[in-house]
Amino acid sequence: MKHHRLVVLLLAVLPLSALAAPRAIPGINAKDIYPAGCVDCHAKKAGGADMRLSTRLARWNGSVDPKMLAAMQAFVPKGMTLKGKHPPVTAAVKDIPASCAKCHSASSKTMPPLAPLMHGVHLAKGDQSEFVKQFQGECTYCHKLNKTAGTWSIPNGAEK
Ligand code: HEC
Ligand code: HEC
Ligand code: HEC
Repeated sequence: MKHHRLVVLLLAVLPLSALAAPRAIPGINAKDIYPAGCVDCHAKKAGGADMRLSTRLARWNGSVDPKMLAAMQAFVPKGMTLKGKHPPVTAAVKDIPASCAKCHSASSKTMPPLAPLMHGVHLAKGDQSEFVKQFQGECTYCHKLNKTAGTWSIPNGAEK
């Protein structure tokens, strides 16, 4: 009886935060294994898939699967229709995503602006998205917090 009362007392005085450990957030309270953002993750994995953006974008050569094209079209502003053919990115892959953003500017009327395109591609499908499944949809794999200044930035780098 005595023991039982003690447990009830403990539960009443412990704050909820003491019961659940905080979620591990890369770069905030856990190690960030993709400090260079895009190019760290979009690399050629040993024995795995070739995730490089040059490889991924090379598939957009005018003969891409219509289903893939329709899915991508969802993340493009109204009035802009994708052809499914990407211009060459040989130079652009030296500075990702800054060089992508030069074409994919926020105000472009002919190329999908980068932010909604990125958030759409990586996050919009929720549990069906590979980025959510494999990487918990972590914002901080792209957006890096400067803990001294409290500012956010997106790192740029050459494809590996
Ligand atoms: C931690 C890993 C990771 C990071 C960081 C990341 N991506 Fe991705 N990216 C993925 C995954 C996984 C997919 C596949 C999403 C899916 O199909 O559900 C993807 C898909 C894409 C696609 C679609 C390619 C296609 O043809 O289907 C593009 C383009 C892309 N990423 C660009 C970028 C850019 C640019 C950055 C940086 C701003 C970036 N990614 C950062 C993992 C990542
Ligand atoms: C020279 C300008 C230019 C650069 C640089 C560029 N893009 Fe594009 N991008 C375009 C255009 C134009 C389209 C529309 C193509 C179409 O109609 O299918 C596009 C479309 C896309 C699409 C939708 C799929 C497609 O091909 O239609 C993705 C994803 C994409 N770009 C990602 C990127 C990434 C990531 C980078 C940087 C590595 C990049 N782009 C650099 C011009 C550019
Ligand atoms: C795959 C990389 C990637 C991921 C993951 C990502 N972002 Fe972004 N985000 C970008 C890029 C690229 C930009 C454009 C930056 C620029 O224009 O300087 C951006 C811009 C933004 C902006 C400003 C532009 C806008 O759309 O209003 C906000 C807000 C934002 N992101 C929030 C988030 C949040 C919240 C998450 C997580 C739920 C997230 N992002 C995840 C790549 C990413």
